[in-house]
Amino acid sequence: MTATLPAPTTDVIARAVGLTKTYGTGDAQVHALAGVDLALRRGSFTAIMGPSGSGKSTLMHCLAGLDASTSGQIWLGGTEITGLDDRRLTQLRRDSVGFVFQAFNLLPTLTAKENILLPLD
Ligand SMILES: Nc1ncnc2c1ncn2[C@@H]1O[C@H](COP(=O)(O)OP(=O)(O)OP(=O)(O)O)[C@@H](O)[C@H]1O
Ligand SMILES: [Mg+2]
Repeated sequence: MTATLPAPTTDVIARAVGLTKTYGTGDAQVHALAGVDLALRRGSFTAIMGPSGSGKSTLMHCLAGLDASTSGQIWLGGTEITGLDDRRLTQLRRDSVGFVFQAFNLLPTLTAKENILLPLD
């Protein structure tokens, strides 16, 4: 996946450069992300599409600071999150990231909208 990157400005809310994520070792190794460059503009709505297993969830988990990338750099706003220690990463996730997971983690008693808005409370 490649994209023409805009210059780093406050317009860019999330940015990845040369992002790689490898699961496992040896024969079981999977290169889920192999050098992803991406910039998402503030206020924009972006859909990431691709076949099952192409790395969409892996990319989202890394961008949100929920999983560590193998190499490359990620910025959320002006903060480079690759290299943050656990305490600062936890704080950033708590204050700046809302995430609806692919499976299992929605509250069944709430509507879709209420699930999405819950972190704001
Ligand atoms: N925890 C893990 N350990 C080992 N391999 C993993 C792990 N998570 C994902 N993978 C592998 O990494 C690749 C990318 O998986 P990922 O879940 O990111 O794809 P996806 O595009 O979200 O797929 P789907 O459309 O099915 O949700 C796949 O080959 C998957 O098997
Ligand atoms: Mg997925």
